[in-house]
Amino acid sequence: MIPQDFIQQLLDRTDIVEVVDRYVPLKKKGANYQACCPFHHEKTPSFTVSPVKQFYHCFGCGAHGTAISFLMEHVGMDFPEAVRELASRSGLEVPEDGQGRRPEDGRRDEWLAIMDAAARYYQERLKASEKAVRYLKGRGLTGETAARFLLGYAPEDWQGLAAGVDNYQDTRLEEMGLVILGEGKRYDRFRDRVMFPIRNERGRVIAFGGRVLGAGEPKYLNSPETPLFHKGRELYGLHENRRGIQASGHALVVEGYMDVVMLAQHGVQNAVATLGTAVTPDHVAKVFRLVDRVVFAFDGDAAGRKAAWRALENALPQLPDGKEAAFVFLPEGEDPDSYVRSQGPDALRTLCTQAKPLSDFLFDSLQAQTDMSSQEGRVRLVKLMEPLLAQMKAGPLLSRSLRARLAQVTGVGVTEGRRPSSPRTGRPPLRRDMLASPQRLLIQALLTKPERALDLQERPPVQGQDGAALEWLLEFIQGHPGVGARDLVEAARTCDFGHLIASAAANMIRWEANEQDEIDYQGAMASFREQWAQSELDRLNRIPLSQLSPEDRQRMVQVLRIKKLDQMNRIKGE
Ligand code: UTP
Ligand code: MN
Repeated sequence: MIPQDFIQQLLDRTDIVEVVDRYVPLKKKGANYQACCPFHHEKTPSFTVSPVKQFYHCFGCGAHGTAISFLMEHVGMDFPEAVRELASRSGLEVPEDGQGRRPEDGRRDEWLAIMDAAARYYQERLKASEKAVRYLKGRGLTGETAARFLLGYAPEDWQGLAAGVDNYQDTRLEEMGLVILGEGKRYDRFRDRVMFPIRNERGRVIAFGGRVLGAGEPKYLNSPETPLFHKGRELYGLHENRRGIQASGHALVVEGYMDVVMLAQHGVQNAVATLGTAVTPDHVAKVFRLVDRVVFAFDGDAAGRKAAWRALENALPQLPDGKEAAFVFLPEGEDPDSYVRSQGPDALRTLCTQAKPLSDFLFDSLQAQTDMSSQEGRVRLVKLMEPLLAQMKAGPLLSRSLRARLAQVTGVGVTEGRRPSSPRTGRPPLRRDMLASPQRLLIQALLTKPERALDLQERPPVQGQDGAALEWLLEFIQGHPGVGARDLVEAARTCDFGHLIASAAANMIRWEANEQDEIDYQGAMASFREQWAQSELDRLNRIPLSQLSPEDRQRMVQVLRIKKLDQMNRIKGE
């Protein structure tokens, strides 16, 4: 674990406005900064960044967090990566223990440096190779596109790469899959191929795909799995097309490197490709972090349909309510690359808008396998569908509505899945005009001035979600004196109340002038006192007068005084 006080120190030295602005240009608006939300598709900006509070909140979709969560959610870093990124910018050393900086991190930097050198070498060689340039030009590729995707060429030599790296004998070249050791000799894995560098979300080269220039086997040779590269997790083009994906509001998942590159050249800049594997749940989760709609494009042939079905199976468990997956089938013999060249980008965009929703693809495919005219066939459909629906853990509402549809088409009453609870991952729309409970008011008051938790004499009664969140908050502040609102939002991110606490914090962004704050705080405290007084009074009232002990009598007086005081205050306040 990275220690909490280090996170605090890190956030102290970080300006969230600067961090966000690097990825999403911000405009000043009053005390805050605004932009169109990078987490959902919108035309009027509701994404707000507070330089004072040091967190962001989208009033449209509820996305929220600190500089750290922004790097995680928007840029796709994991927690330690985000921490390291901010640390390196503010000149802090991440504590070495635990996840902070793993022992392999130093090696990771060295591996990345090697991949970088190799990519630069291949790029150089492409410029020098008439035949490789001719091949790419022949496929309609411009120099500009080649540069944008850092395309390169691995020459025909056995040890060509020796000219591109410091030390060809370095065993890390093997670890990275650039060099192969065979019968005591070392030689280049990629020879005489057009090179497609595969970059991670931060733009670092982590692997390559190499295509033969004409016919030949294998057509594409890819880097093996290495410590940097797990092909079931990476998507080609995600770095290059990140902005395009967010701007268009959806990602188009295709099968080939060339598809991504060619589509981008034609202005369709929201495609990513799997790397010679089926679509995995990790892939799906990754794109849904960026955008709410994913369109999978497949060939119209049998292989394409099969691949699409695999994608559906892997998307189901990752599909949260409110997000969409859909399928496009290209005419037989076409792939997105050939289609966009022959039909143009608009035709392709039209296909995407007409894509078949996952639910239709699911029903159509399974209904085609069953005889819907017989009772047995309809029961069989239920049998086929059930295990799939049972996997939809992230989308209880969609799962429920699919069950309803299933019951309707089959006439078979389908057992209910679990009731939809509000999943933690989904972002429920904000209830903006909610009358805040005293618990919620106190949460807000604590976010404004966390030190209030230290003065609190008695714990307010725990009631409902707000009460539990409040309890958590008090506990956390008392355990970490000196925390600010921003630290609380960050720390709450991984607890059950992250959303609740962030939405309370968001209200504070909105009410920037906080004279209201002290009033709310006093109000909340008075309300707790009154609740407490009332419950004491109820208890005391149940005891027959003759049996009241002297302490009880004293308590009664105290309680009545509190109730009276609060009443008077209320009258004064009116
Ligand atoms: P395709 O065979 O559909 O090729 O492979 P393509 O993308 O249309 O390529 P071009 O247009 O002929 O250049 C789709 C994807 O499957 C993986 C690659 O990632 C490729 O982009 N693949 C294919 C391999 O990994 N190895 C292969 O030998 C072939
Ligand atoms: Mn192709």
